[in-house]
Amino acid sequence: MTCVAVVGSQWGDEGKGKVVDLLSEGADLVVRFQGGNNAGHTLVVGGESYALHLVPSGILHPGKAAAIGNGVVVDPDVLIGEIEALAARGVEVSPRTLTVSSAAHVIMPYHRALDAAREAAGPGRVVIGTTGRGIGPAYEDKASRQGLRMGDLLLPERFASRARSAILEKNALFANLYGLPEARLEELEALRGRWAEKLGPYIGDARAVLREALLAGKNVLFEGAQGTQLDIDHGTYPFVTSSTTLSGGACGGAGVPPGELGRGKILGLVKAYTTRVGEGPFPTELAGGQGDRLREAGREYGTTTGRPRRCGHLDAVAVRTAVALSGISSLAVTKLDVLRGLGALRIAGAYRLDGAELAYMPQDISDLARCEPVYREFGGFTEDISRARRLSDLPSGARGYLDGLEELCGAPLGLVSVGPERGETVMLESFF
Ligand code: GDP
Ligand code: IMO
Ligand code: MG
Repeated sequence: MTCVAVVGSQWGDEGKGKVVDLLSEGADLVVRFQGGNNAGHTLVVGGESYALHLVPSGILHPGKAAAIGNGVVVDPDVLIGEIEALAARGVEVSPRTLTVSSAAHVIMPYHRALDAAREAAGPGRVVIGTTGRGIGPAYEDKASRQGLRMGDLLLPERFASRARSAILEKNALFANLYGLPEARLEELEALRGRWAEKLGPYIGDARAVLREALLAGKNVLFEGAQGTQLDIDHGTYPFVTSSTTLSGGACGGAGVPPGELGRGKILGLVKAYTTRVGEGPFPTELAGGQGDRLREAGREYGTTTGRPRRCGHLDAVAVRTAVALSGISSLAVTKLDVLRGLGALRIAGAYRLDGAELAYMPQDISDLARCEPVYREFGGFTEDISRARRLSDLPSGARGYLDGLEELCGAPLGLVSVGPERGETVMLESFF
């Protein structure tokens, strides 16, 4: 039995979906453990593209078991829509293969409304540039014990009493601060009925599914969402998401003991350059034309919101920090092909702050804002690398860049992705 956790080492969108799909071949169970439909994971198989937000990216492998763990926040309408859209394309998602934890929290319409109202509130409020999916407000209710869980959808009376309590404060806020219509209990109860009918058969004990898989010696793949620099504690707070995006998040968010995770492999996803969506510091960001070139070459527009992603040089300080926080045992480098023909390439190997060189990111964003990246330069390459399947197939310019990346990020390469398709990959390690 092996556990493999796939986590983002940057600001999300590193290509986790592609890699999870690829590794799912050898997995028996694929588990999401945090985040919600703020995630957008794109998989390309046989020329067909699939954008997944909640359903684990192992789903394209027929018959694989998948679970949405207790640490995920679930928007039931999005999950229903995703299951139906997959079915319409011939991908079977059934309660036999997908278990949604009864302890996963529900994103309610009032969470989305609150998320949007805060982002639009204007002067005096910090704008995060969230995905607007209600993620933060849903996690707030979880922490303040006002949340509704997926299991509550199956218990009408408990749902009604908890929902009644949850909307008391929300409605005061909506009426007095944001001028929004109140949430109405009858409407929420009607939603519950519809959600329970569609999702009821999927709701169960995901923790037990995981435990049984571990006891039976099965291979389990944990699919992280977002990335290290968006972690609620270790990211660029407050410009972060509301969950633990590190490998350790799988312990609380799915119920895997740390020792099991530690005996397995932790794969850190590294896009060959850096992108970020939303507000917040980004030391290696490229302004103007150079950033635009990278955005167009890499088609850097959000899977979830369609927003243009901010683009910049690879920041090895950020990745090295992620390696330390998540115990990353190897790196999956993605989108190397995008750097073709972009001339000389740079990687930030350190930051300079007040005359000192830093190897790791400072935790406070005021310090981070004052950091100057210290770059190493590499020759780059002009060849098409999408057909490379071994390191030796890569031109020397690409090899030189990968050698520098490996050295500066501080973990060995496990795989290199040279195109969006499942097969466009150089495998350097076996995972299961
Ligand atoms: P995730 O959120 O980490 O799963 O990443 P996204 O799916 O949001 O963004 C990654 C994008 O890059 C998707 O459109 C993928 O299809 C695409 N992609 C993944 N790996 C590669 C690669 O090696 N080369 C290219 N050109 N595209 C890739
Ligand atoms: P995947 O899994 C990139 C960003 C948002 C915003 C901040 C907070 O596809 O890598 P939220 O809606 O979570 O409250 O927004 O986090 N963000 C992501 N950026 N990829 C993601 O997911 C993201 N999920 C959230 O843009 O800056
Ligand atoms: Mg994404």
